[in-house]
Amino acid sequence: MWDKLRAHHAKVADRRFESLVDADRAADFSAQAGDMLLDYAKTNIDVEGRALLIDLLERAGVAAKREAMFSGKPINETEGRAVLHTALRNLDGDPVFVDGADIMPGVLETLARMEDFATDIREGRFAGQGGKITDVVNIGIGGSDLGPAMAVKALAPYHDGPRCHFVSNVDPADIAGVLRQCDPATTLVIVASKTFTTIETMTNARTAQAWMGEVVSDTGAQFAALSTAEDKTTDFGIDPSRVFGFEDWVGGRYSVWGPIGLSLMIAIGPQAFKAFLRGGQAMDTHFRAAAWHENLPALLALVGIWHNQVCGYATRAVLPYDNRLSRLPAYLQQLEMESNGKGVSMDGADLEVPSGPVVWGEPGTNGQHAFYQLIHQGTRVIPCEFLVAARGHEDDLHHQHQLLVANCLAQSEALMRGRTLDEARAKVADRFEGAELERQAKHRVFPGNRPTVTIAYPQLTPFVLGQIIALYEHRVFVEGAVLGINSFDQWGVELGKELATALQPVVEGKSGVEGKDGSTAALVGFLQRNGV
Ligand code: F6P
Repeated sequence: MWDKLRAHHAKVADRRFESLVDADRAADFSAQAGDMLLDYAKTNIDVEGRALLIDLLERAGVAAKREAMFSGKPINETEGRAVLHTALRNLDGDPVFVDGADIMPGVLETLARMEDFATDIREGRFAGQGGKITDVVNIGIGGSDLGPAMAVKALAPYHDGPRCHFVSNVDPADIAGVLRQCDPATTLVIVASKTFTTIETMTNARTAQAWMGEVVSDTGAQFAALSTAEDKTTDFGIDPSRVFGFEDWVGGRYSVWGPIGLSLMIAIGPQAFKAFLRGGQAMDTHFRAAAWHENLPALLALVGIWHNQVCGYATRAVLPYDNRLSRLPAYLQQLEMESNGKGVSMDGADLEVPSGPVVWGEPGTNGQHAFYQLIHQGTRVIPCEFLVAARGHEDDLHHQHQLLVANCLAQSEALMRGRTLDEARAKVADRFEGAELERQAKHRVFPGNRPTVTIAYPQLTPFVLGQIIALYEHRVFVEGAVLGINSFDQWGVELGKELATALQPVVEGKSGVEGKDGSTAALVGFLQRNGV
């Protein structure tokens, strides 16, 4: 299936895709889900290339795999689990079966308990031992941190609950910096961990417990837990009434829609949280119903496959022109790289094409004054994905928002058009001549022909944030399904964890470096001589 795409790429690789971009292309190479627009006109994908990509997707059986996911089949085969984060935003409660049992009553009951708890906190009925809760500290890492941390920041204009803080790193600098800002008597600590065994989270949770214990008599009363391991939360001393459970069919990096989103719900309130769920649900409906050439997640995936597996561009930049999405690139790093950073297909065979790409990024316009130089003139092509809202939330500063939008559009235009040597010469002809003119002009050439996609939406509301996250989740799903990999396990994180556990006594000096490689032993030695 890949050969035809490779042959097509070879045929069109040297073409300047700007030549394709006539008035009709914008309509033909874009699609809408509700009022969210995906424009992929500024890529080298043409009608034939798109047909080949859709053929690839059909041959990979993506439609059947999609339905297997939504209907609760155990598609996470290496862990024997269903993949049903979509059930968490199935607000209509349409039945979804796992092992013959409808999971929706349980999902909706937990959601209702979260709403009651969040409302009690926001309205002061649940208080700390020093009064109304002023601060919420979410302790979690990876999927138990990035989702709510990213979303709380993204939805700051809707934030009318207590302050929310996020502690993830085992580096004591992280928790110390957060606890310094809080009063233990009016703080709620949420321990967010699917497994309730993650060493960073459990270490930070115990640190928070000790901090609170210096001031309040009953620390357990100001702790809540979000986990699949309810027995372990009880052992930790958290009352079951403040434990919000979920099942193993919710992957960590897909978990913001359920209990892991509790801090977000406390921050913005249950109604806004449900609007966020409805945005995700709307994208689910679109993903299941829209034809491939109108299907945003499928198209975004096909663009990704074209750039990564076919053109060989190893990274993609996600560049939100929406400052409150500053954590979106980090969130997508986990979502995309933990899901599709796999070298073997479901049946254990080596992949015949590269695995998912490196994902990175920063908000625009900041990035423009930092790394865009390389995107414009470096020797590697980096496909860019821009996100931009028609309106911000600062109505009195709308002209500033318009400048932001102009910058976003200018970047994709510049990356496509570039600047020729003749144009560069004309720019400096009044200052230089002869060989110096040639030399100076060369530095001002932009190769152009660099692909971008733009995702545009009216405003970053809770609903739209839900659409964006679900869009990327399903994009990851389609890319993984085409590669034939399991996007829902993460065995690649195991080895480092095992070695860290074994190294801790070595670092502490309780055991020696025997058996360690020379480099690790020397590093331990240096750090010990310097006080570790
Ligand atoms: O180590 C990776 C990982 O398992 C992620 O997949 C997960 O999101 C994170 O650790 C945190 O896990 P937990 O929620 O179980 O603490």
